[in-house]
Amino acid sequence: MCGIIGILGNHEASPQLVEALRRLEYRGYDSAGVATIDASGRLDRRRAVGKLVNLSDRLVHEPLPGHTGIGHTRWATHGAATEANAHPHRSGPVAVVHNGIIENFRELRAELQGMGIQPQSQTDTETVALWTAHYLQQGMSPQQAARATLARLDGAFALAFLFEGEGDLIIAARKGSPLAIGHGTNEMFLGSDAVALAPFTDRITYLEDGDHAVLTRAGVQIFDVAGEPVQRATNRIDVGSTAIDKGGYRHFMAKEIAEQPAVIGDVLNHYVKDDRIILPEGLDFNDVDRISLVGCGTAHLAGHVAKYWFEQLAGLPCDIDVASEFRYREPPLSDRSWFVAISQSGETADTLAALHYARAHVARTVGLVNVGTSAIARDSDVALPTLAGIEVSVASSKAFTCQLAVLAVLALKAAHDRGRIDDRALAAHLRDLRSIPALMSQALALSDDCRDHADWLAGARDVLYLGRGALYPVALEGALKLKELSYIHAEGYASGELKHGPIALIDGDVPVVVLAPHDALFDKTISNMQEVMARHGRVLLISDAGGIAAAGEGVTASLTLPSGGGVFQPMLYAVPMQYLAYHAAVAKGTDVDQPRNLAKSVTVE
Ligand code: G6P
Repeated sequence: MCGIIGILGNHEASPQLVEALRRLEYRGYDSAGVATIDASGRLDRRRAVGKLVNLSDRLVHEPLPGHTGIGHTRWATHGAATEANAHPHRSGPVAVVHNGIIENFRELRAELQGMGIQPQSQTDTETVALWTAHYLQQGMSPQQAARATLARLDGAFALAFLFEGEGDLIIAARKGSPLAIGHGTNEMFLGSDAVALAPFTDRITYLEDGDHAVLTRAGVQIFDVAGEPVQRATNRIDVGSTAIDKGGYRHFMAKEIAEQPAVIGDVLNHYVKDDRIILPEGLDFNDVDRISLVGCGTAHLAGHVAKYWFEQLAGLPCDIDVASEFRYREPPLSDRSWFVAISQSGETADTLAALHYARAHVARTVGLVNVGTSAIARDSDVALPTLAGIEVSVASSKAFTCQLAVLAVLALKAAHDRGRIDDRALAAHLRDLRSIPALMSQALALSDDCRDHADWLAGARDVLYLGRGALYPVALEGALKLKELSYIHAEGYASGELKHGPIALIDGDVPVVVLAPHDALFDKTISNMQEVMARHGRVLLISDAGGIAAAGEGVTASLTLPSGGGVFQPMLYAVPMQYLAYHAAVAKGTDVDQPRNLAKSVTVE
């Protein structure tokens, strides 16, 4: 978590640092801070609790001169969101920004305290600054002091060090957490991702695990884990693809929901030509005996939907796991199985750790990622882009449905390779899948209706979501979205499970959102809905015209989705899940794009 930035520039650094931090705010927004070296070599810093705007306001009244600086946007792990715990952390002539967790910081801090050195914060990061300052005091150079400190750190980190009196030096290091170096003309930059650096440069070098780098305006020297100088590739990134704007929408989330038909269309154009599925060489399911789909949050739920497709269409046994449980469960994995890591950011620490565990055991690892340069993309045997474009809103919407689209393609490929469907059946399923963007455009028209019902949800303390079959994980996603965005307690249940406990919660105050397309499972789901209504539960029924006609009587409210899409219909039902949560959050006045306590890229386990 957290975003870091460093600039060795030729202009005032603090406005540039703030601009870059704005692009990293998705990584956390508990506090923000910058430190600079001014023309006389003086190190100073400004920090502010809460969103970046508080820091930029502060900089208006208390400007921070200097062309060299580091910055940080925080997602709190150790210590509350206070100014004392905000980065950059400083000890005498050293300032440090950090993304990750220093796991042995307690031992490191106790040792410092034994020497009479007292920390000023509760953070793990401050120990890095304290140790570096301690080594400097012993006569080491900045580079020696940073190296000596790095050698003592356990855990995951991307770090940047700034030194008083050293206006042409930033030292950076990474282990676990991502770090990009940007090359300018007589300027150098570093950042947690390339998007943060896009306003300054399109030439990027990614550090590898264990690397540290010494940056001056003239360039960068990179050293590997053994301290040996190494060359790392420099690539040009497509800066055009890093544009971040709301495009006239009030929130990024509203824009991203509305983009879904277009980006799903892009996915299908990429992976399907006529009636053929186009995947990288070697992705053949003939000898595969099992597939594991692993992710966190919404990405995990995309896997949960796809489990139904892999099992029903391809007859392929499919496990799904939340990434944080997968590794520690030590699941037995067959050497004929595939492991699929699903991740928008491609940097989620738990998903990456699960991938690293799996690759020693399985036949093939596949990374389903939205960020093509991410660690999961790099560390998988095959990376499949989900092509959603930049998703800024912390709560995922278009990244989820694009993950579903790629998983649908994979499941169809598996079904065809394994002889479960012939060419004709494949073509029919592909027609269903290709109909999704247009159907989804129709589903987007439900936004206003969702707004009307969202007022009702926004007033509730608890909300239940029910679904059956592949709509069950969509119900889970609906509940997750509502929790994330509007802080209303919500639970998703398999509708058949209702009577085994959750039905005790039903009364006239608990809205129950029922997802029930008019399909083979419809009658069973509607029976569960009737059980709710018999107990005075108030139901919002989401179905198609056939379903609403058959069972809409007596419900409190209904939403009518288009029918069609075949087995890929769950993608359509994602839309009202997103809009209900979005409008409930707007009605409650919560921060839609940056909900409290969350971050978009979760780089700590
Ligand atoms: C965070 C985000 C979620 C996201 C999850 C997994 O919790 O708030 O929206 O689904 O991480 O992220 P990933 O980048 O791996 O898809």
